[in-house]
Amino acid sequence: SIAAHLKDHASQIYIGCALSPSHFSDSQYQSIAAAEFNSLTPENEMKWDAVEASQGSVNYAQADQLVQFGKQNGMKIRGHTLVWHSQVPGWVSGLSGDTLHQTMISHITDEVTHFKGSIYAWDVVNEMFNEDGTYRQSLWYNNFQTNFVGDAFKAAAAADPGAKLYINDYNIEGINAKSTGLYNLVKELKGQGVPIHGVGFQAHLSTGQVPSDLAANLQRFTALGLDVAITELDIKQNGQSQEAQAQAYASVVNACTSTSGCVGVTIWGFNDQYSWINDNPCPWDSNYQAKPAVAAIEGALK
Ligand code: G3I
Repeated sequence: SIAAHLKDHASQIYIGCALSPSHFSDSQYQSIAAAEFNSLTPENEMKWDAVEASQGSVNYAQADQLVQFGKQNGMKIRGHTLVWHSQVPGWVSGLSGDTLHQTMISHITDEVTHFKGSIYAWDVVNEMFNEDGTYRQSLWYNNFQTNFVGDAFKAAAAADPGAKLYINDYNIEGINAKSTGLYNLVKELKGQGVPIHGVGFQAHLSTGQVPSDLAANLQRFTALGLDVAITELDIKQNGQSQEAQAQAYASVVNACTSTSGCVGVTIWGFNDQYSWINDNPCPWDSNYQAKPAVAAIEGALK
């Protein structure tokens, strides 16, 4: 029989992963990514410091390579990310006021226009909340309070009216102060007519600590008329068995498939060797051997 792959079971939602062309010289990396997933997110290559390290010298070559890989392999592409406090080039950090505002709008317009028609969804604004639900004191918030958010979404919508526009964050998987702060903001934005279409739940999690109210939390956001997605899933082993880790993966995928309006799950790197974090958080190990998590995800997708 022909071996089945994750994407063969992903009829209701997409199953994606973060990729980087820095690993493309590794042919197993490319072949597994293409075989298993029907969506990709560039891990770093669309971030502002990657595309415009010095003012005016824009370089989309690495990101273009990923878009081409995605198209060749029938994958959706999630754009990540336009407005974030981190990985902002040094020349931007020194700006303020109207100049900063104009620079933010130009950046969004240029990048979204470059990829117009190729991107399924953009993470327009990333990680703007503190753990207690207040706003992070970022370059953006300190200059514009929350006004930058609506402005950013409007600029992205004008540049590519076909892309779904998301706000994205971590530690918002359960119902807590941070996710409630985000809930209140997106409700307000929707009420103001801001073109926001989805909320991304990063889901950098640990085995034994997947919030039991994940599905309930997703559903309070879909009740606002928004799509939701799991955007950066990884689950640290946390001293537990690979079987326990597999169950944790299944529970996250199940929360999505059981929520009408949850459109997909993206894993933040599929093999441990290239993960941004230690503690064996991925479904495949450092030698590309599938752990029990792969079959568990497959079962949850069915
Ligand atoms: O590309 C340079 C390389 O030229 C240089 O020699 C090297 C030396 O440190 O650094 C390289 O850049 C690194 C980059 O990854 C590419 O490998 C950065 O230092 C490093 O900070 C960066 O880390 C990324 C991190 O975001 C930055 O905040 C991770 O790969 C990436 O997985 C991680 O992804 C984030 C999401 O975007 C947002 N949510 C959280 C998630 C995990 O932190």
